[in-house]
Amino acid sequence: MSIAYLNGEYLPLTEARISPLDRGFLFGDGLYEVIPSYGGKLVGFSAHIQRFQSGMQTIQLKHDWTEQQWREVVTSLIEQNGSGDLGVYIHISRGADTKRLHAFPDNVTPTVFLFTYELPPAPSADLAKAKGLRVVSSEDMRWQHCNIKTTSLLGNVLHYQQGFAKGVNETILFNQQQQLTEASSCNVFIVKNGVIKTPPLDNHLLPGITRYMLLDILRKDGSIEVQECAISMDQVRDADEVWLTSSSKDIAPVIELDGQPVADGKIGPMWLRAMQIYTQHKFSY
Ligand SMILES: Cc1ncc(COP(=O)(O)O)c(C=O)c1O
Repeated sequence: MSIAYLNGEYLPLTEARISPLDRGFLFGDGLYEVIPSYGGKLVGFSAHIQRFQSGMQTIQLKHDWTEQQWREVVTSLIEQNGSGDLGVYIHISRGADTKRLHAFPDNVTPTVFLFTYELPPAPSADLAKAKGLRVVSSEDMRWQHCNIKTTSLLGNVLHYQQGFAKGVNETILFNQQQQLTEASSCNVFIVKNGVIKTPPLDNHLLPGITRYMLLDILRKDGSIEVQECAISMDQVRDADEVWLTSSSKDIAPVIELDGQPVADGKIGPMWLRAMQIYTQHKFSY
């Protein structure tokens, strides 16, 4: 039985209840994180909590836990759920008001909710086991605050569904200038002539923790050139390799875009090199 945490209490997930007046429920007025934990070892914990806390400041959601307090609850929850390969979902909403009014309420306590779910074993740097993903592309129809990891995910849900309905794994998104932003639930990287590229951070994409860790690890390793630069959809279509990154996927190779193979349609050698370097270092974050 899966154990959850809700507002100070550990309880079976199926027994967790919130008010229908919770602003997370009514307005999507909340933030979330998903942190992977393999055999009890968290990946990128501090970076996830820092993004979470910086999101709270941005949306003026007041909550005073330190990183250590978050760590204690997360660690306990992982233990109570068997310390296997788990995704830890962390959620905070502005809380339950007594009425439905858009304005931020006074004196309302934020709702804090965590639960875990099973993840497949940590992706490994192994060509034989890797699965190439198929994706479609679409104009990015979301809002101007995609850098905030908010629970208001309808824009992302609709984009994800575009790909899902076509039987593929993801939808990658481009702006009105035909430049790549990210995917509905991942960041995107391309490889061209041995150089790894990803769009620079701005308000049109989430500052992914996997993206940050991969860039940091590759720069410290120094054996492959990495660039944060604008990338046109023509460049994506002409890339030698395309990858998606997220906390649950690590680095996932894309082998087909809009029904066309990416390069020769096989998982590329740079993916393998990047995965080897990344998997060596990811547990030190
Ligand atoms: C829209 C979007 N972009 C990128 C990511 C990847 O972020 P992270 O690497 O922190 O999981 C996610 C993950 O949920 C996402 O939803």
